[in-house]
Parts: sequence; C-alpha cells; structure tokens
Amino acid sequence: MSDEQRVTLGDGREVIMRHSRQGDAERVHAYICALGRSTDMILTYEDDLPPIERIQSHIDMIPKGQFYSLVAIDPESGDVVGNASFRFAVRKKLMHAAELGMGVLPSHQRVGLGSMMLNRAIEDMKSHPTIERLDLTVIASNTHAREMYLRAGFVEEGVKIRSLKQPDGTYDDEVVMGMWICELGR
Ligand SMILES: CC(C)(COP(=O)(O)OP(=O)(O)OC[C@H]1O[C@@H](n2cnc3c(N)ncnc32)[C@H](O)[C@@H]1OP(=O)(O)O)[C@@H](O)C(=O)NCCC(=O)NCCS
Repeated sequence: MSDEQRVTLGDGREVIMRHSRQGDAERVHAYICALGRSTDMILTYEDDLPPIERIQSHIDMIPKGQFYSLVAIDPESGDVVGNASFRFAVRKKLMHAAELGMGVLPSHQRVGLGSMMLNRAIEDMKSHPTIERLDLTVIASNTHAREMYLRAGFVEEGVKIRSLKQPDGTYDDEVVMGMWICELGR
C-alpha cells in the first residue's frame, strides 16, 4: 500500500505527503539547508548546516524503527518543502517518548501545510507500538508555531530560560511542550 497522499493547500497548490525513504537524503538535505537559512526559529543556521551524511544516517534509522520522517514534496519541482520528524530514544527509560522536529519552507508557509503534516505525524505516532508521549521544544517568541502545537493537542509544560544563544549573541527561552497519546498504563 502506498503511503503517498496528495493534498491541496489553502492557496490551491498541491503537495505530495509521504514517509521519507532511501534516495531522499539529497532533497531532505537541501530542504534543511534552505529552512536553516530562512529562519532563526530552529537550531540549524547558515554557519552550522548539517552534512548530508547526517541526513542519510537518519534515513537509514527509519527501517530499524529508530526514526520517523514525513516529507511534503512539490510535485512540479520534486523538492521537499516541508518535513515532520520524530526521533526515538535509545535509552530504556525514555523509549516511550518521541521528539518532534518540523518545518515548512517560506514558499509554502501559512497555507495549512504545517498543521496537516503535524496532524498526520501525530496520527502515525498513535499507531506506533511503543510510543506514548510526544515531546518538542519551541522558541518562546515563535507564537504561531506554539499556537499550532496547542491546537494539535500539545500542552505547555515549562520554560527553559535563555537555553538558546543566537549567532548575534542574543538569548532565547524555549518552551517545552508535550502530548500524551495513549491511555495511561498501556
Ligand atoms: C511553524 C511552521 C512549521 C508552521 O507551518 P505552516 O505551514 O506555516 O503552518 P500553517 O499554514 O498550518 O499555519 C499554522 C497557523 O499559524 C499561522 N501562521 C503561520 N505562519 C505564520 C506567520 N509567519 N505569522 C503569523 N501567523 C502564522 C497560520 O495562519 C495558521 O493559523 P490559523 O490556523 O489560525 O490560520 C512554519 O512556519 C515554519 O517552518 N517556520 C519556521 C521553522 C519553525 O518555526 N519550525 C518550528 C520549530 S519548533
């Protein structure tokens, strides 16, 4: 069964949403570099772009159940324009939790793609055999991202004070958010 889903965005454009697979490393890498250059709301930035090998290693972890990645692809260019990923812990006491990272390129922001990807990724986690809790951190001033997460069902659990230092020397607080996705005692 194909996991590809063709979705129409708020402005009428279409994207293909599917799980990442072998052969995607280059386009996911290009997306992460473009996103890192476009915003100071994520850890990645211009002078600190990840090597493609790191992206490939994440893709290699998917069939082993150690990583989850959903991509949105522009059907015209074949480029990745959005991504939602979950990192699974390797330490036993943390194995019930998965950590979310996500982004949408500026060309495709504010037309519903982020919310759609987030909702599909959460639904996928609900059918995961061991994941019970979802985690994320978001820069406190990233108001629309925080609201998107709240709407999806995350709750704000705390604040890490000046946990990020931007390249210009200014500090940001991060909000820790979490969501419980199964009955207690599963
Ligand atoms: C946060 C992000 C993933 C949201 O993706 P998106 O595709 O723009 O999200 P949506 O179109 O589904 O919009 C979600 C909500 O945020 C609002 N929104 C999105 N971008 C906005 C902006 N720049 N300013 C104001 N509101 C904005 C939308 O209007 C929408 O609200 P609504 O449902 O009330 O209309 C995307 O903006 C992004 O990648 N930003 C840079 C990286 C980042 O912040 N990642 C998250 C790190 S935790």
